[in-house]
Amino acid sequence: MDSNKRPEAMERITSKALADAFIEQQVAAVRAQVGDKKVLLALSGGVDSSVVAALLIKAIGKQLVCVHVNHGLMRKGESENVIEVFKNQLDANLIYVDATDRFLDLLAGVSDPERKRKIIGAEFIKVFDEEAAKLDGISFLAQGTIYPDILESVKQAEGKKAVKSHHNVGGLPEDMAMELVEPIKLLFKDEVRVVGEALGLPHAMVYRQPFPGPGLGVRCLGAITRDRLHALREADAILREEFDLNGLAEKVWQYFIAVPDMKSVGVKDDSRYEGWPAIIRAVNTKDAMTATIEEVPYAVLHKVTARITSEVEGINRVLFDLTPKPTGTIEWE
Ligand code: XMP
Repeated sequence: MDSNKRPEAMERITSKALADAFIEQQVAAVRAQVGDKKVLLALSGGVDSSVVAALLIKAIGKQLVCVHVNHGLMRKGESENVIEVFKNQLDANLIYVDATDRFLDLLAGVSDPERKRKIIGAEFIKVFDEEAAKLDGISFLAQGTIYPDILESVKQAEGKKAVKSHHNVGGLPEDMAMELVEPIKLLFKDEVRVVGEALGLPHAMVYRQPFPGPGLGVRCLGAITRDRLHALREADAILREEFDLNGLAEKVWQYFIAVPDMKSVGVKDDSRYEGWPAIIRAVNTKDAMTATIEEVPYAVLHKVTARITSEVEGINRVLFDLTPKPTGTIEWE
């Protein structure tokens, strides 16, 4: 039987009871596969790697070594949250690497989006490999591969043209000596979430909106600078907070801020104030191939605008992107 093919008889996991049965079965399978050996996992804080981490902690405890690489392009509070949940609450064997300076130094002056993606992806692998090399006796590599990833790679093999290189940070070289552990590879995203909740992960982590591997790197448009990246991160945090407060976080598929590399003239405290615009993007989609715009209430937009322009240094305007996909892609780069 092809282990990468979901059996037709496999029931869709829609309830806690079904998730518990799946977890029990995978815990046994992982223990049988791994024995008393050690497993390494790149824990990004995304839904898939988080669910794999929680599942493996349940199965093999401290035999799992999680590495969280902060590439400096995470959203506000995200790395701290990974540490809080996995190290403090789940007592995971977690290595935290703050590689911010490495990434930002490499990206300085690079404005081409595809080059930015490649630099971020390659450096991620390098940092992760360096950490792995410091560890002894790792025999397995765990990955948060899910069923759509498998279906997607089959499609790519059939020669469909890619619009962007969707580099999933954490993609690893093929000549690796470690054997793979992929406990959720036959699950669809909604099932991963049900399993995550059954494992006791926080709701906000399990229902986290999609976040691209290159992170804020493709939202700080053009050549990334630390001051503009900081402004973007703060503005994005305000948007997320207001969407949460106004019931939009659960309703909108993906929402974020992008900040372009241009300034406009504005006025603040009776003086000329040149600043960047913050662009709000809020889209709905089923498969990310096409997307529609969420009709965000004006009251929310006004509140977000007022907060960003008063609280975030360097931003003097807020714009709302009305463009569906096509013609716009969801991200700006
Ligand atoms: P686009 O911009 O192509 O985005 O309409 C579709 C979905 O893919 C995400 N995206 C990425 N995800 N690495 C990722 O892991 C990437 O380089 C990347 N670029 C876009 C985007 O956030 C949206 O959900």
